[in-house]
Amino acid sequence: MFRACVYPVRRVSLIFVLALLVVVPNGWAQDHRNATSEHGVAVSRSVEASDVGAAILEQGGNAVDAAIAIGFALAVTHPSAGNIGGGGFMLVYPGDGRDPAFVDYREKAPLASTEDMYVDGGSRKNHRWVGVPGTVAGFVLAHEQFGTLPWENLVMPAVRLAEGGFVLNSLADALNRALERSENDEFKRVYGKNGGAEAWQASDRLVLSDLGRSLRRIAEQGNDGFYAGETADLLAAEMEQGDGYISKEDLSRYAAVLRKPIRTTFRGNEIFSAPPPSSGGIALTIMLGILEHFDLKSKGRWAPQTVHLIIESMRRAYADRARHLGDSDFIEIPAHLTTKGYARELAASINLRQATMSEKLGPRLTEAEESPETTHYSVIDRSGMAVSNTYTLEQGYGSGVVVTGAGFLLNNEMGDFNRNPGVTNRQGSIGTPANLVVAEKRMLSSMTPTIAVRDGKVVLVTGSPGGRTIINTVLNVTLNVLEFGMSLRNAVDAPRLNMQWFPDRVGFQGVEDPAFADLVKQLTVMGHRVTRGGGGDANSILAKDGTFIGAADNENGGASAARR
Ligand code: GLY
Repeated sequence: MFRACVYPVRRVSLIFVLALLVVVPNGWAQDHRNATSEHGVAVSRSVEASDVGAAILEQGGNAVDAAIAIGFALAVTHPSAGNIGGGGFMLVYPGDGRDPAFVDYREKAPLASTEDMYVDGGSRKNHRWVGVPGTVAGFVLAHEQFGTLPWENLVMPAVRLAEGGFVLNSLADALNRALERSENDEFKRVYGKNGGAEAWQASDRLVLSDLGRSLRRIAEQGNDGFYAGETADLLAAEMEQGDGYISKEDLSRYAAVLRKPIRTTFRGNEIFSAPPPSSGGIALTIMLGILEHFDLKSKGRWAPQTVHLIIESMRRAYADRARHLGDSDFIEIPAHLTTKGYARELAASINLRQATMSEKLGPRLTEAEESPETTHYSVIDRSGMAVSNTYTLEQGYGSGVVVTGAGFLLNNEMGDFNRNPGVTNRQGSIGTPANLVVAEKRMLSSMTPTIAVRDGKVVLVTGSPGGRTIINTVLNVTLNVLEFGMSLRNAVDAPRLNMQWFPDRVGFQGVEDPAFADLVKQLTVMGHRVTRGGGGDANSILAKDGTFIGAADNENGGASAARR
């Protein structure tokens, strides 16, 4: 419903925002969804976490320091996706002449994994679907490479939030729903009010003592506070009692990896984004590469021709994603996918008046279903160093398994692998080998942390949750800013389009808005099936003339942009 009435909502929210405006001592005005500063901005899913990031910047920390602190804080205040028991990606643009870097802390398949371990499917809310967690190793690696403040300073704000507690606000309802569904006793003991016997109220305070102790061990010992010692013992014991696959050897062997980001150009901007094991950067490169062959701006953002071209670029990129992408440490990814020549060929294959039926691009392939429950945050500091970080437990609250005595949730990221090698399913889809399970392989992701740069200076920091819709959300926001020159607020608020090759339909958040009725009609005439859809939570930052503008997405109650 939300995006369909985005324009009326925006008018109402403007009044609301004006009513909430707080004039802070140096004269800057801010509300929770918007922040402007010359000194640095942090935008995340949680007020407390964004404030932690702003405080780290205030203490003289750089964007990476702040990003690490936000990541640990979200593990406390946003338990459905913030984590230390999951994994993700951090893209860093140092802004001082050093090369952009990509910290891959995606989960890995345990050593005991086999290609057909999940052919029987079944519920993913249990120990069997947990991948070896990467978040702590990723943050340690990012700190080693770029951090300036002492490590413990970055973890202690999260320890204080966990041990001192925080007011639940909009989390109360979400947690009540998760507790009602949960069959995990430790989840109920740790996250329930009186062990789950009572429902949480918005004004209640959640204290997470076990998590606080786990975070303390990380603050004191870094990687060894998670991958060895007490936490590793507790995690391995949890796996053993729940028939999970992760061993102490898996934990001790886990390493985050520093990779080269995918780099492309679009309208004079350099775009840095996620390389494999994410599909995001390659798919984004294909889409932008196609679209730069068309003058979208002069047609207008909502011209049927513009929207048609965007949809067709998505269709083609998602077909290649399904056919070719997986963990590049295990499979060969065709080099031509990111070339301008290939994008030109794809652009030429688009019929300007008619939708390409998806099956014309090849037979449908079985792909993993990725959950929309992930979280993205963006940070920039006064020097112009920027961080775009997306991390996840996969489904909301991951596997739903809390490590007994350690207080943190484990992911169920193994569900992001393709599960049916060579099997054709009832819809005629064929399991593709690029993303099949192999021991120690990383599962394909759609997370697309992205930074756009012009003349060496950051222009846009963006990314989103949303499962496979993530890449399209990032494309929507990127085009809104770089092609159509929208303000960041409008770019983030604008209704989004989503087409993923299969199913052959277009998700459009404006589909029920009378303002878009003619557009939808014209798209239908071209052969597009337009339905409700599209989503995300694109907590983003725009840098313009030395000023940083943060915009938290509209889609959730807790989103916050904070400035220093
Ligand atoms: N689990 C969501 C993703 O990796 O894209």
